[in-house]
Amino acid sequence: MTRCLGRRRRDCYWLMYASCLFGAIWWLETTLISRIETGNASIPNKLPNADDTNSQRGSEKLKPDIKRGLRLRNATDSYRPEKPRVVQSTTPNQCTEKTNFVYIKEIKCASQTLVNVFRRFGLERNLSFVTPIGKKIYLGWPWLIQERYYRPSKTDKFNILCEHAIFDERLMRKLMPDDVVFIASLREPFAQFKSMFNYYAFQDRYCVPDGFHMSKNLMAYNLGFPTGYLPGQADKSSDEAFIADFLSDLDRTFHFVVIVEYFHESLILLRRLMCWKLTDLIYLRKNVASYSFKADMDPDLVAIYRKWSPVDYRLYDHFNRTFWKRVAETTPDFREEVEHFDRVTDDVNNFCRDVSAGKVANGSFLTLHDSKWNKSFRVDKGLCETLNAELLKRIQSEWDKAQPKMKQPVPDKEFC
Ligand SMILES: *[C@@H]1O[C@H](CO)[C@@H](O)[C@H](O)[C@H]1NC(C)=O
Ligand SMILES: *[C@@H]1O[C@H](CO)[C@@H](O)[C@H](O)[C@H]1NC(C)=O
Ligand SMILES: *[C@@H]1O[C@H](CO)[C@@H](O)[C@H](O)[C@H]1NC(C)=O
Ligand SMILES: *[C@@H]1O[C@H](CO)[C@@H](O)[C@H](O)[C@H]1NC(C)=O
Ligand SMILES: *[C@@H]1O[C@H](CO)[C@@H](O)[C@H](O)[C@H]1NC(C)=O
Ligand SMILES: *[C@@H]1O[C@H](CO)[C@@H](O)[C@H](O)[C@H]1NC(C)=O
Repeated sequence: MTRCLGRRRRDCYWLMYASCLFGAIWWLETTLISRIETGNASIPNKLPNADDTNSQRGSEKLKPDIKRGLRLRNATDSYRPEKPRVVQSTTPNQCTEKTNFVYIKEIKCASQTLVNVFRRFGLERNLSFVTPIGKKIYLGWPWLIQERYYRPSKTDKFNILCEHAIFDERLMRKLMPDDVVFIASLREPFAQFKSMFNYYAFQDRYCVPDGFHMSKNLMAYNLGFPTGYLPGQADKSSDEAFIADFLSDLDRTFHFVVIVEYFHESLILLRRLMCWKLTDLIYLRKNVASYSFKADMDPDLVAIYRKWSPVDYRLYDHFNRTFWKRVAETTPDFREEVEHFDRVTDDVNNFCRDVSAGKVANGSFLTLHDSKWNKSFRVDKGLCETLNAELLKRIQSEWDKAQPKMKQPVPDKEFC
């Protein structure tokens, strides 16, 4: 039985496991962190501690190797690239913007940020979304999506599915036009687990049915892997051959997988794939929790977790590999575009923060100058508000206003 509200305890197994792990992490924190702070840590395989979009730089060699451009002295200054660029555009303007896509959200995988980018993209173009009925936020998750879990389409098909759903290729292809693009995002599983643990355990915000493991192969489950939870489903998480098939199926179906540790690299690859504008990608950093055990990547704990959640590791390792293969195949100016986007993001975030703090006069705006990748554009208060807004509510209420007579379906199960 599911209860979506209130603060109930999750299944005991997980709690016990999590408590042990948390204890271990706490211990590590007190011993290791002090060593890190005194500059004498030796953590092998030190991973980026990206929580959502907070930190995108992963390995050392990925650090931007040029100095950041001019910092804004204050928000009403205009952003300028550090040197004039007279290079021809390597982004072919001939390509056509892609507007039909499915994004499989993963909890605590920068998904809030990405989904807001997608929602704004669709709203600006009047595209149709698959939206959860009523005020719900999930498309039936943790169950498979069904027709009764979303508002019907205004037209024949939908353009965008980016709310929380389990990947179901057959059904999703039926809902979407033929040229649909499939997108997912993944995060280093242990980092994802810690972030989720922090999010759920300490903030009493969750919506998890009995018997559902939030800590075990969750990313794979959301991508349709049978973990034994759904009725009639076997647990295939120790079936090597099955896992290999599962991965090659995903390879075949998914056009792109965002790797959260390399968030801006991912966004730029996505922009190029979808033929979107740089301005479509801008976002405000949000949902960035800070918790004391965030930085720990103790190899022993990671090894334990790797055994506990093996499919997620297979998944992550596989797609991290293909991600870097793609980066290697891209144009030489890729790195430059990523750095440009880093600066744009900083500037927009600083500007919007000043807007929220009431430091920006009415009518002021931030000008992002011409670059090799985009024409000059302005960020004003209105855009900051949109970037800050809860766009799912807006999409839902727009649908309700446009279809006052259309009845919404009634779900057969409780969900969030
Ligand atoms: C760092 O650790 C090594 C042994 O792990 C020790 O020999 C050395 O003195 C330490 N350095 C500092 C600055 O604490
Ligand atoms: C922004 O900078 C200009 C000088 O470049 C200064 O005159 C102005 O007071 C600054 N505004 C704020 C809000 O700091
Ligand atoms: C959005 O689409 C609806 C019908 O699907 C149409 O009535 C409306 O005018 C459109 N709005 C814009 C801004 O294009
Ligand atoms: C992802 O792949 C890159 C390139 O092979 C590697 O350097 C990095 O360590 C991998 N990240 C993780 C978290 O495994
Ligand atoms: C900006 O405009 C709003 C109303 O549009 C007004 O309430 C506010 O006081 C103005 N702020 C400044 C700094 O002029
Ligand atoms: C920059 O943005 C404009 C629209 O604002 C778009 O038409 C143009 O293609 C973009 N430029 C590049 C190089 O992507």
